[in-house]
Amino acid sequence: MEREVGRDGASPLVLDLMARCPHLEREALNSGPAATLVDVAGVEAWAVSDPAVLGPLLTDSRVSKDPNRGWPAFRRGEIVGTWALEPWVGVHNMLCRDGADHRRLRSVMSSAFTPRRIAALVPRVEAIAAELLDAMAELPTDRPVDLREHYAYPLPMRVIGELLGLPGQAARPEFRAIVDGVFASHLTPEESHANLRAFRETLDGMLETKRAEPGDDLTSMLVAAHDSGEEGGSLDDRELTDTFSIVFGAGYETTVNLLDTAVTGLLDHPAQLARVRSGEVAWSEAAEEALRFEAPIPYLPLRYALEDIELADGTVIPAGGPILAAFGAAGRHPRAHGPTADAFDITRPDKRHFSFGHGAHFCLGAPLARAEAAAALPALFERFPQLALAVPAEELEPVGSIVSNGHRALPVWLAGPPR
Ligand code: HEM
Repeated sequence: MEREVGRDGASPLVLDLMARCPHLEREALNSGPAATLVDVAGVEAWAVSDPAVLGPLLTDSRVSKDPNRGWPAFRRGEIVGTWALEPWVGVHNMLCRDGADHRRLRSVMSSAFTPRRIAALVPRVEAIAAELLDAMAELPTDRPVDLREHYAYPLPMRVIGELLGLPGQAARPEFRAIVDGVFASHLTPEESHANLRAFRETLDGMLETKRAEPGDDLTSMLVAAHDSGEEGGSLDDRELTDTFSIVFGAGYETTVNLLDTAVTGLLDHPAQLARVRSGEVAWSEAAEEALRFEAPIPYLPLRYALEDIELADGTVIPAGGPILAAFGAAGRHPRAHGPTADAFDITRPDKRHFSFGHGAHFCLGAPLARAEAAAALPALFERFPQLALAVPAEELEPVGSIVSNGHRALPVWLAGPPR
């Protein structure tokens, strides 16, 4: 693959695709220039983490999300099938489009995420949480329980399944493995491409099921938008599949990680947990701090400079240069959060973060993710007041991806550690 940037000979910071030392990468980015040249699975990109630089870039009309407009290597056909992170750049949905095209693709889905629709979902989220907690209460308490497996994972998965009107299908283990593949940054390009193909085939099957039996759900809405062929509101075949995919691609593992890291942060800081449980600090503050402290999507590939862009410190992102938004490092940036940026503190007054993005591509599902955390966290700690980590937080094994930040497992004692 031809190198696009860094022609001045600067050697890039090679990002670890297994994310073994995220703190070292965060420190390197946060103490470096306004944009740091990085190597992401063989592609060189400019990583930006300083909120004062990142915010304006995310709304800059000289920055595109459409690789066909902004990335010469993509146009030359060098990326699809040859880059491990293809699912993040080579999809035909709002994530990879600008302007009117972006608005068209986003508007098809946005009516499903209005405050009214989300409020209507909350009782279902609470009921699902209660069912999962009932099931957990049946588990033996003399051995650790994996909270990710029993709670953080199935809750968002079931919510998404209901939103899409596909409750049974979304939870199938083979489907879960495919979605996990979308969030795995260490796959070979061939594995990643094959996984994306399998993802699309599975989704097409689900769309066919819905077409045969439509209902009052998001999938039926998308199918209707495609099939009606209305001017301005329509989606072509590939856009239908890839727009459908984004709900799984962007909407579930992220929320799993939010619940996982919020619970971890609170259990690792019992004094803070006590203040939320007493009502002194709101649960929403704990969720926002978890989002700041452990962004569920640490890096978001990619954006592209449409022309040379000179940043405040003189760093120039050259035209055609890919830009990597470093949301994880941005949440920990000392220029925004001072010397305590690396401390989990639900009482810090300023919890600003970029974990849901910023600008036109701001996460459509943010209200839903927040509603899920607002329901899931208090219900969990109310049901299991003695909940405790079964291994020290620093020994929890990370998921191991630059696009997904959580733990492989979250072993806890439901009734406190055995005496
Ligand atoms: C804690 C949970 C979540 C996090 C951290 C998260 C994070 C993000 C981020 C960072 C972006 C911006 C991408 C960019 O800059 O290009 C984004 C976009 C998006 N998210 Fe989320 N997300 C979460 C939950 C959800 C949920 C639950 C849904 C839907 C069910 C969802 C749907 C979307 C969609 C459709 C977009 C694309 C918006 C656009 O390009 O216009 N997300 N999300």
